[in-house]
Amino acid sequence: MLRTHTCGELRLDACGQRVVLAGWLQRSRDLGGMTFIDLRDRYGLTQLVFNMETNAELCNMARTLGREYVLQVEGVVSERSNKNKNIPTGDIEILVEKIVVLNKAKTPPFTIEDNTDGGEELRMKYRYLDLRRNCVRKNIELRHRLSILIRNYMNDKQFMEIETPFLIRSTPEGARDFVVPSRVNPNEFYALPQSPQTFKQLLMVAGYDRYFQIVRCFRDEDLRADRQPEFTQVDCEMSFVEQEDILQMFEGLMKYLFKQVKGIEIGDFPRMTYADAMRYYGSDKPDTRFEMKFVELNELMQGCGFSVFDNAELVVGICAEGCAKYTRKQLDELTDFVKRPQVGASGLVYIKYNEDGSFKSSVDKFYSVEQLQKVAEQFGAKPGDLMLVMAGKREKTQTALCSLRLEMGSRLGLRDPFNYKPLWVVDFPLLEWDEETQRYYAKHHPFTSLKAEDYPLLFTKPGEVRANAYDLVVNGTEIGGGSIRIYDRQMQNDMFKALGFSEEEAQKQFGFLLNAFEYGAPPHGGIAFGFDRMCSMFAGVETIRDFIAFPKNNKARDLMIESPSEISQSQLEELNIALIPKQM
Ligand code: AMO
Repeated sequence: MLRTHTCGELRLDACGQRVVLAGWLQRSRDLGGMTFIDLRDRYGLTQLVFNMETNAELCNMARTLGREYVLQVEGVVSERSNKNKNIPTGDIEILVEKIVVLNKAKTPPFTIEDNTDGGEELRMKYRYLDLRRNCVRKNIELRHRLSILIRNYMNDKQFMEIETPFLIRSTPEGARDFVVPSRVNPNEFYALPQSPQTFKQLLMVAGYDRYFQIVRCFRDEDLRADRQPEFTQVDCEMSFVEQEDILQMFEGLMKYLFKQVKGIEIGDFPRMTYADAMRYYGSDKPDTRFEMKFVELNELMQGCGFSVFDNAELVVGICAEGCAKYTRKQLDELTDFVKRPQVGASGLVYIKYNEDGSFKSSVDKFYSVEQLQKVAEQFGAKPGDLMLVMAGKREKTQTALCSLRLEMGSRLGLRDPFNYKPLWVVDFPLLEWDEETQRYYAKHHPFTSLKAEDYPLLFTKPGEVRANAYDLVVNGTEIGGGSIRIYDRQMQNDMFKALGFSEEEAQKQFGFLLNAFEYGAPPHGGIAFGFDRMCSMFAGVETIRDFIAFPKNNKARDLMIESPSEISQSQLEELNIALIPKQM
């Protein structure tokens, strides 16, 4: 070993000991008679001291060393006179007697500090330098720790980690696939898995009744803060279970992680139906750190001559406690917020319930004080509160009001990232209508079972059929989702029929699974957690990029290795691919 200790481990009890450390030069300070260097490695920082009086040659040499040089030093641990309480090694320093420059370094393009001067793009280009930063390293450490804890829990519960292939076949359901051409099979393509869904179900048929895998998944979809084209799932499946068993098992996992990582005991997770989540929060991933629930107002506010409301499918609002004092400017800001294209509302109505009990609203012309009083009662509003109301098509309005609710939550400081409020959202609809293609799609996936009591509706009111599907939501983010699967051939055939698949199409796409189900498929179900999202949630951060060692940017590019990239003509020919010339 080129070192006896790391830069994070020496304390007062080591004083007098001769040690060898190795690491990177974080910073140096030259105080005339003395030179100090902070030496950094993965474990921390240790202060090195060079004394002009005792060893001028070494001290002069130390002064020539640049940031990020790789050094090996030998010296004696000594108590500091000027202790630094901010770092664990702050009580000691090393009186250096020997230095070896293991490697020189160019001056890095940004400072290797928590508060760096490097912009996002530069840091991504030099990600290996960005990863040296303490704050980034902590994220990667958290990820590692979580993966170990998850493996421990799963192993304790008899789950086996089994790998599934990355080169699989493309299926039209779900997000877009990343495809890979096959050289040995000209004109044929593999797809990278969007999840190991079908394989884990095949493992259930094979009798591996508790499977899990921490596994990379690939989806060619538009990127957001909580989405990457390649991301990691904690993918799980169990046989001989019902929905309740899955919820209990994985609530157990989450409670274990909260306890181990954050030291918090979280009580039983509340459950909310999808219908209630939409009705009261306008989202299937409600942020339940604060109330501000939706109140529907069709009965109270329609038919009073205000055409925007009269012609709307839904009139719905929220009540922001203590906000009646909002100024014109603040209200205008909120209106601008809802009119942004990302939110897409046409406008916003406000009703102030003033401290003195009077009302002031943007629709005073249409509503009497008595009517506004009734509206306030419906909200449970008190004097001093502000009611914000929107109207339009049901789903669009719910989604827009959801954005406004979250915005108000942020403005009022109600969204502390460390105030964890997990819940299960259950009873998702089985199918989702797509206007563009004029057909139903499986909301979760085509192997999700339906609630027995809703089976009769499958061909009469398909949109109303509920699935045995559930999501784990924490603070407004979907951390995981899963379902109880279909294992009965008749139900599977009916499902394909409802999705508009002919028997031949179903056989062509999913024949391997359907055939397997003929050989004794056990009742089974499972869940997959977004591992990157889980890491960011525990760290109280929104973007998952910080928890991936080598992430892609929002154009799905890796700026460091410059991918994706063109390939050579000979590679193209070998793969039998002709490029379509770029449109000018
Ligand atoms: P689903 O598609 O809901 O389910 O994915 C499971 C979880 O994966 C995370 N996730 C993502 N994280 C980062 N970037 C992405 N692009 C991304 N897409 C999804 C989310 C999500 O909750 N096979 C089923 C699971 C099952 O039924 O067992 C599946 O993949 O946190």
